[in-house]
Amino acid sequence: VIATASTQFLGAERVGAMIGRAGLPATFHTLLRYMEEDFRRWPEFDKSARTAAHSRDGVIELMPVADDSLYAFKYVNGHPRNHRVGLSTVMAFGVLADVATGMPQLLSELTLTTALRTAVASVMAARVLARPDSRTMALIGNGAQSEFQALAFHHLLGIETLHLYDIDPAATRKLEGHLHARGVKTLRFASAADAVRGVDIVTTVTADKTNATILTPAMVEPGMHINGVGGDCPGKTELHADVLRSARVFVEYAPQTRVEGDIQQLPADFPVTELWQVLAGHAAGRVSPEEVTVFDSVGFALEDYSALRFLRDLAVEQGVDERISLIPALDDPKDLFRLVACAQPLVRAAA
Ligand SMILES: NC(=O)c1ccc[n+]([C@@H]2O[C@H](COP(=O)([O-])OP(=O)(O)OC[C@H]3O[C@@H](n4cnc5c(N)ncnc54)[C@H](O)[C@@H]3O)[C@@H](O)[C@H]2O)c1
Repeated sequence: VIATASTQFLGAERVGAMIGRAGLPATFHTLLRYMEEDFRRWPEFDKSARTAAHSRDGVIELMPVADDSLYAFKYVNGHPRNHRVGLSTVMAFGVLADVATGMPQLLSELTLTTALRTAVASVMAARVLARPDSRTMALIGNGAQSEFQALAFHHLLGIETLHLYDIDPAATRKLEGHLHARGVKTLRFASAADAVRGVDIVTTVTADKTNATILTPAMVEPGMHINGVGGDCPGKTELHADVLRSARVFVEYAPQTRVEGDIQQLPADFPVTELWQVLAGHAAGRVSPEEVTVFDSVGFALEDYSALRFLRDLAVEQGVDERISLIPALDDPKDLFRLVACAQPLVRAAA
């Protein structure tokens, strides 16, 4: 068997068009199925906490994961002040590769895809942690991730009304515009405390490189589910430590979340449950209507593995097949030098 040396390429506009064509509800639905499948076979994966390169204004992270047949990695940054220079806070791309040969099968944009998979991971947690009768959600932080969080909860969990708050009113107006265009009801509030009053679910998805206290114990009501998305880096948290102490806390991969999540504020033996254990039936999710549950989301490599697998299959379904020569195609794999020997100079030296 001769392996093919070409790699499928999916750029940002291409993925946007593919998702537009598939429709967001169907995309959320299918991606949730892929992710739940992968989380249920958690022990089969070779896992590690991501490698992070920190600087004054942000972080660049590398997130690998593999099973016996596929290897995936994501490159992703987090720079909360990037909007000042016209760039996104979070930007990403990634690769899906064949374990048997190491050949990269797919190189894809993952900025849009990260927003999709983060929202789907939030819903995957909320399905086992939020009260089943949940209909309202507060959304604190109305930036790039927020529409995806709102719409995934609307389509997959039956959330009818979103309570919105952001320190930047323009971000809230942008979010309102997108949600109203899709028939989703919103209410705007002047503070996070006002926005969370009486809701079933609270999603915090703010960006600030600081130990913020978006949610304090006084704002938490019995039975609430808290989906903490923005606290995902050392020195970058959203929940007051007492909110965590008085709740049952669920995480993706404990060794990573203890460093990066809101629980970085608590001792290393603070009890948490890994979400896969609930999904695989080894641990209980919500056990009573009154308890407060927290999903301390930081983003784990397996979610990107699921998303890359989903994009690969969606491309096949839609007949998308753009290929690049990321790896040289060689008649004789031992003759790499031929690439140089046969290359024509692009620019002739001036006579
Ligand atoms: N857990 C995960 O898997 C995951 C994935 C993607 C992004 N994130 C994190 O989610 C956060 C949001 O990402 P984004 O791409 O939407 O960023 P963004 O910069 O586009 O939006 C963040 C919004 O938060 C608002 N904000 C900042 N401080 C606030 C405060 N105190 N109260 C209310 N609003 C506040 C900002 O005004 C901005 O509109 C980032 O911190 C990012 O690192 C986590």
